[in-house]
Amino acid sequence: MPAQRSDALVFFGATGDLAYKKIFPALQAMIRRGRLDMPVIGIAKAGWDLAQFKARARDSLEKHGGVDETAFARLTARLQYIDGDYRDPATFEQLRQALGTAARPLHYLAIPPSLFGTVAEALVRSGCDKGARVVVEKPFGRDLASARELNRTLHEHFAESAIFRIDHYLGKESVLNLIFFRFANAFLEPVWNRNFVHSVQITMAEAFGVQGRGKFYEEVGCIRDVVQNHMLEVVSYLAMEPPGSGSEDGLRDAKAQVLRAVRPLDNEDLVRGQFRGYRKEEGVDPESQVETFAALRLQIDSWRWGGTSFFIRAGKCLPFTGTEVLVEFRRPPQKRFGGFEMVHSRNYVRFRLSPSVETAIGARAKAPGDRMVGRDVELLVHSESAGELEPYERLLGLAIDGDCSLFARQDVVEAAWRIVDPILNSPTSVYEYEPGSWGPEANRVVAPEGGWHTPSNDGETS
Ligand code: BG6
Repeated sequence: MPAQRSDALVFFGATGDLAYKKIFPALQAMIRRGRLDMPVIGIAKAGWDLAQFKARARDSLEKHGGVDETAFARLTARLQYIDGDYRDPATFEQLRQALGTAARPLHYLAIPPSLFGTVAEALVRSGCDKGARVVVEKPFGRDLASARELNRTLHEHFAESAIFRIDHYLGKESVLNLIFFRFANAFLEPVWNRNFVHSVQITMAEAFGVQGRGKFYEEVGCIRDVVQNHMLEVVSYLAMEPPGSGSEDGLRDAKAQVLRAVRPLDNEDLVRGQFRGYRKEEGVDPESQVETFAALRLQIDSWRWGGTSFFIRAGKCLPFTGTEVLVEFRRPPQKRFGGFEMVHSRNYVRFRLSPSVETAIGARAKAPGDRMVGRDVELLVHSESAGELEPYERLLGLAIDGDCSLFARQDVVEAAWRIVDPILNSPTSVYEYEPGSWGPEANRVVAPEGGWHTPSNDGETS
């Protein structure tokens, strides 16, 4: 039976950063597409009234994509605002009233995880939990133990089927293309394994630093911020078995299975870096050991992947912004055809994940002329802009429809924590690197055999 659509959208933390940067733009886009036909209720404790809240919505849109006056008028007509403390039952009494006849609200908890329990309990006490779904934002814990604890708290009040853990990477066009490209093309499957693939590497480069989020970043660092979630999601899509059924859980089952086969990381598989100047950021400890860069090597203990290394490199203040995957094939055996010129004989599939979407196949062809020598060529399979459906719009729409396939399931989250748990709070050195460089020199220690691939540069530069 298809899930029923939610009939009200409530977002906690309505005056916060996430609402400002992501939620209002998504709401306006949904209105434009005729996908938001319900009351939208913002809740926060800021001492604001509805007029101030609407002004904040306008400001958010002006800074993030622009105001479409017609859509904005329709959005504000639906907007309500409740100013109140999450610990005060009166706040939830007002919510109950505001929901009116709505029977299936979607509660978006854009608030710190430490408040999830308080809000979830108050929703239950006030009866606002009936027929409800909750959307929760990453981080889903700080490590395996706290992720389990957080989950226990949520499960005290909501069933797993009503919990939507949002990771915006799962809503990216380019990331969805990864699964599609893998399983929609029969030519890949025979070679997509340890016998043909030498290594897989992912570089997530960001030209910018912590953008005023120093206090938040000090608590997380690169491994918790993007490796445990976004990067391991990408690894799971690259490495998983074909999702079994068409059901929502087919995809999540396949991800859980492959992540469980990834060997927990060891400090030898890790190089950490910190950009020069990080310690001077507001909210950052002047002696901080938190990494803003990480290079990692993963092994998957499975028949498909045993012996093929997966590498991840992610960092802030790198030369430009761009995320790419390179799936590199083993060299041909004959020297005559360049088989041993390692650096110059790359056969690969390249997926560009951001800012644009691209898939390409790298090969060797004969260089024109009298000699039997080769050159690198690349077949661009397709190249597009990221598309206009932003991840938050896509995911909010799915949550309203009750489709959880692109949300993180608890066992998948735990499987990912299990992989990084041994290297959290790692005692390994944090090497300083120059902003605008490719991270510390030491990252050569943990690198694919032919070296790190530099993504193409069509992004923002530092
Ligand atoms: C967020 C991280 O989850 O993802 C940020 O907290 C990071 O630090 C961002 O910059 C990257 O996402 P995108 O979609 O902009 O590549």
